Amino acid sequence: MATPPKISKDLSTLAVIRRLIRDYVSRQWGLLVLAVFCMLLTSAMGGAIPWLVNSVTKQIFMRHMGEWLLPLSLAAFGIMALRAASLFFGKMTIDSLGERAVARAQGDMFGSLIQRDLADLNAVHSGQFVSNFIYDATLMRDALTQGVAAIALELVQLFVYVGYVLLSDWQLGLASLLALPGVAWAMERLGGSMRRAATRGMQETGDLSVVLSEAMDGRRVIKAYGLEAHSVSRVEARLAARLNTLLKAVRLRAAAAPMTDIFAGLVIAIVLFFAGYQNLHGQLTLNTFFAFLTALLLAQQPVRNLSQLWPTASAGIAAASRMFAAIDARPRIVSPPGAKKLKVAAPTNGTKGGAVSFRDVSFSYQGDATLDHVTLEIPAGRKVALVGPSGAGKTTIFNLLLRFYDLNGGSIAIDGQDIHEVTLESLRAAIGVVSQEAILFDESVAANIALGRPGASQKQIEQAARDAAAHDFILELRSGYDTSVGEGGLKLSGGQRQRIAIARAMLRNAPILLLDEATSALDTTSERQVQEALSRLMQGRTTIVIAHRLSTVQDADQIYVLDRGRITESGNHEALIARGGLYAQLYRHNLTEPEPV
Ligand SMILES: Nc1ncnc2c1ncn2[C@@H]1O[C@H](COP(=O)(O)OP(=O)(O)OP(=O)(O)O)[C@@H](O)[C@H]1O
Ligand SMILES: [Mg+2]
Repeated sequence: MATPPKISKDLSTLAVIRRLIRDYVSRQWGLLVLAVFCMLLTSAMGGAIPWLVNSVTKQIFMRHMGEWLLPLSLAAFGIMALRAASLFFGKMTIDSLGERAVARAQGDMFGSLIQRDLADLNAVHSGQFVSNFIYDATLMRDALTQGVAAIALELVQLFVYVGYVLLSDWQLGLASLLALPGVAWAMERLGGSMRRAATRGMQETGDLSVVLSEAMDGRRVIKAYGLEAHSVSRVEARLAARLNTLLKAVRLRAAAAPMTDIFAGLVIAIVLFFAGYQNLHGQLTLNTFFAFLTALLLAQQPVRNLSQLWPTASAGIAAASRMFAAIDARPRIVSPPGAKKLKVAAPTNGTKGGAVSFRDVSFSYQGDATLDHVTLEIPAGRKVALVGPSGAGKTTIFNLLLRFYDLNGGSIAIDGQDIHEVTLESLRAAIGVVSQEAILFDESVAANIALGRPGASQKQIEQAARDAAAHDFILELRSGYDTSVGEGGLKLSGGQRQRIAIARAMLRNAPILLLDEATSALDTTSERQVQEALSRLMQGRTTIVIAHRLSTVQDADQIYVLDRGRITESGNHEALIARGGLYAQLYRHNLTEPEPV
């Protein structure tokens, strides 16, 4: 996440591991046991090969015992086959355990993310989010698949060898173990650097995907303005920054094994010194010394392996810790405990709508007041318009009614119920929104309309499309209602997308309707079609319209003029023109403005 997740304490390494095991590995103990068993079997079969060579040499080449020839040859094949099988199952089980755990963690991460407040979602660039989502998951998977089981195995081997070392000569053994704390210290330092490098790598991968996705989203502008070279240099800069961090990680990983070798050198020096000393004083025999040295050299291998695994594990722990932070983050805007559903009054004289009232509402995004003691009354079933200069706070009024943000002062009510006291779902279910930007998903046209009411029948979908003046052009598409809309709805014109969005709102059939400059991006013909669809949609609903083109709101029952967060005028079109204030000025300006094409 680009936003620091709001949790008080950072999880320690141990806490992260415990949680990983508790939440994502423990449901798969069977797989884990199988994986470890297979790995043990693999190494046992690896050890059986020298034994076999030894037997062959002894029984056949030295003793010339012909009857052993076939069994030993078969055994050689058997061992290799068993080793191959255990290798296969071991790798498969541990990898699938890792993949499953990561897929579940990603599911949890997205599930938590999509619940978060709009303000938090706005703070993260979508490119950054996607990259973190995949980057951290990959690190975590690598740590799980290459780390967990392998580290456990190496630790077991290490304990066996260390026991061996201590048994063969405990004084010498203790002397040689003096280096272990040093190794542990070095590994922890390395792990810390690796965690930092992984975090930076994640950030830089995120930054890179931001410029990549911006370039793709902005491809029309890039082409039209000839910004290809500019784009390339932005991407190159990100690539260079990321490469730096990746190279640092490469150095850290490469340093791991040599670092333990330095400590191994130290151990050898210590052992040689003590062994020589003991031998000079007649306390150490040659065969004890050799047995000891063999065990010591064997013990070095797991230490070396562990030091190489640890950077991967460290990076994975850092990633898992970030994923947990994202999973734990909670929205602040939630239904209050024990909240009732919003009840929009039953239809009277043909209206479906609810009355909306803003009382003395004040709000700021950050710092300066965006809305300053705003009071609005919107009677049930009426059409009210909000007009005013850009940045006046019109869209903010919608954001507050939808409870995307909470107020700093005042109250908002629908049919007398404070919107902060009803459930969030019922509040948002009562409101339909059509905005300038018609968001379509990469699904079929029918599926896009059906988003308005999950489970809607084909007949209902088509009826909504007819009401939205979209049915005819939909039938002309290659596969009609089953045509895929394509990335960002690019295969459709602006007006067509808008009408699909209106059909969606039709199907939703919400009693309150918010239109945020729904027609300002369209040409005149398109606008007329969309305007007709919208009038049908508005029928009988409480509608709040934001429009820059004042011609579209002249018929509103009431017009509120908003300027720098305050309501400065209100009344119907004629009254406001007669008043000769900001509205009249905006209107005159509007008339002389050329129609957009
Ligand atoms: N998410 C946000 N975070 C911080 N400030 C914001 C945010 N959204 C809007 N603002 C600020 O709040 C003020 C009001 O914005 P708002 O979007 O409500 O204006 P508007 O009247 O809808 O303008 P326009 O006609 O250009 O759409 C502006 O100064 C804007 O910069
Ligand atoms: Mg706006």
